[in-house]
Amino acid sequence: MAGEGKGIRSSGAVPPVASRPALTRAELESLARDVAIRVAGANHGRRLYGQRGQGWARTLAAVMEPLGALFEAGAQEVTLALLGDGLAVQGLPVTQPPSAVVRFVGQLKARDVEIISLLPGVDTADLEVLFEYLGADAADVAAMRGEGWLRERGVERVRIKHLKLVGSGGMESFRDVYLRGRRVLGRQFQRAATDGEVSVGAVGELARALMDVVLGSEAPVATLMALRDRDDYQLVHSVNVATLVGVQAEALGLDEAEVQVMVTAALTHDIGKTRVPEAVLTHRGPMGAKEQALLDRHAVEGARLLLDASVKASLPAVVAQFHHAVPDPGLPGLLAVELCRVADVFDGVRTLVGFHDAVGMQGAATFMWRRMGDRFNPYLLQRFARLAGVGAAGAQGWLDTGEVVRVLAPHPELAFSPKVEVLDARDGPLRTGAQVDLAARPDGPTFQPVLPAAFRNLAPADVDGLG
Ligand SMILES: [Fe+2]
Ligand SMILES: [Fe+2]
Repeated sequence: MAGEGKGIRSSGAVPPVASRPALTRAELESLARDVAIRVAGANHGRRLYGQRGQGWARTLAAVMEPLGALFEAGAQEVTLALLGDGLAVQGLPVTQPPSAVVRFVGQLKARDVEIISLLPGVDTADLEVLFEYLGADAADVAAMRGEGWLRERGVERVRIKHLKLVGSGGMESFRDVYLRGRRVLGRQFQRAATDGEVSVGAVGELARALMDVVLGSEAPVATLMALRDRDDYQLVHSVNVATLVGVQAEALGLDEAEVQVMVTAALTHDIGKTRVPEAVLTHRGPMGAKEQALLDRHAVEGARLLLDASVKASLPAVVAQFHHAVPDPGLPGLLAVELCRVADVFDGVRTLVGFHDAVGMQGAATFMWRRMGDRFNPYLLQRFARLAGVGAAGAQGWLDTGEVVRVLAPHPELAFSPKVEVLDARDGPLRTGAQVDLAARPDGPTFQPVLPAAFRNLAPADVDGLG
């Protein structure tokens, strides 16, 4: 089992590569807002004034500035996504959007575009083609999806994602499902709070719709989960956890029916919080024993609510009851519970650190492995971390025997057991230059990626405080 106790030598070890400076939350927010405003402004300006002359060149150059800063800080893509009736950049909602952004959102909706993703190396010529697509007459682009339009014009570093789905009885998009999810879950949480009742059927239907969208899209997980809204943290958290359970279950190759029951159970894992006093739920920082006990009760309260609602479908009750229980290393856990635990803690870490990109996702998975490893089924956590991109070729870190290593080839399932090359043996038992397939040595060391700075001051107890 991984954990600091296994002897990760972080004390004397210097990160093997100069890590890029991580952006603070405030810097990220301000850059994201800049991207939204400048992209929307250029899009609008192009339509008003045409695309000629110095003014236009300056406008495009202005868009490149915040984009460049985000890539510089390690972003692997910059996403502009529809979020409810607004826009989110890197998953961060643009609050109080200026009118150009509101118009831009209208245009995206009219084209059925849900996510625009800009990849490193994107240039002003690429952006011009994007604006051309958004501004073209509907008749000219009707027959073609944005992706095809861009490819035909040689643009490779801009991706357009239409998330409209055919199926599940009509056309739905992730945005619709999310908004519906908030409503449906909100109603069920409300009923649970006032009458102590919940309709498992309604939640199941929501799970099906959610699953269709999540599994049918190629949208990055980080974008799918970026629907954060302070006022209804509980609901957003529930949708996020269900999304992550669905992604994990699907990657395990489970059949659709099994994925669906797990997603349903995940949606209600925290429903017992409706029985916890508001003051305890909104409390931040160290908790007294009495408050902690009240918070801890949400697991058993949730199980009771869900069992009352349906004795036949007991999985949601089991997931609610055990989602915080530390697994017994000698006993196999129930898969739905284990997947929910991973998703739950991941979304908690995400909330606390506030990251919205691939680097943050990998950092969170690494944090869970290094600092909280004994709480999870190690195989499932390794798989989850792999889904988040940990252990990719070229990544650097340590072995827990001390050597500085670089990943030569990722393991398809196990993020922390790739094939590595020893860059510097330090005082470890392997020699510099050795190539080791960690997966072939199940009792050998594991790969410990560098933990991004933003996670270093986070303690597992902070995550517990979220429940
Ligand atoms: Fe939770
Ligand atoms: Fe919980």
